[in-house]
Amino acid sequence: MMTEKERAGRAAAHAVEDGMILGLGTGSTVHFTLLELKVRMDQGLRLQGVATSQRTEILARELGIPILPFSAVDRIDLTLDGADEVDPNLNGIKGGGGALLYEKLVAEASDKVIWVVDHQKMVDTLGRFPLPLEVVPFNLEKLWKKLENQGYHPRVRMQAGEPFVTDAGNRILDLHLQAISDPEGLHRELKLMSGVVETGLFLHMAEEVIEGVGDTLRHHFR
Ligand code: A5P
Repeated sequence: MMTEKERAGRAAAHAVEDGMILGLGTGSTVHFTLLELKVRMDQGLRLQGVATSQRTEILARELGIPILPFSAVDRIDLTLDGADEVDPNLNGIKGGGGALLYEKLVAEASDKVIWVVDHQKMVDTLGRFPLPLEVVPFNLEKLWKKLENQGYHPRVRMQAGEPFVTDAGNRILDLHLQAISDPEGLHRELKLMSGVVETGLFLHMAEEVIEGVGDTLRHHFR
């Protein structure tokens, strides 16, 4: 049987129309979207993609999906991406894979955004998943201290014993908040801190969420 991630991921590829410029998200769910896009391309679908990470670009190229640089496109017809948590208003947390900055830039340039998730990611309140912040390396320690003093429980994301480095050369601080009562207010507050490049709060961005639930799908619309 297909996993929920695979079911949701593959379903999203069927929202794609011929000739579209697609934003290609990052992660283990959208991985299946790319595999299904390849199946549809073999059947004649034409598309061009903009990748949200090096990881996605490598997979897309392996599959023969033509990739455009973000700088070369004005608008993106549709972006298909994963998410780490989604609330009933279709606001979400992203960046579990560290690709939040490019994912947000691509989403903002898109006419439509669809997320693909398994059922465990649908929550009443955001925040149990640690909120990623992409930050510049220069003041990482000072920013950590400031966030710690404010009770936001930051942790420097690590990889192989070193701070994780994003595709843009930045670092990630994950905030262990448990519950975010005011996502808009928190996003604004964090963005105003010097050294914070982007937050993993993606608000009012997804028009649709495709949720894998057991052996079926649920579609949520904003
Ligand atoms: C990447 O930085 C994230 O925003 C992913 O889109 C998110 O973590 C979902 O990943 P999975 O599909 O692997 O759960």
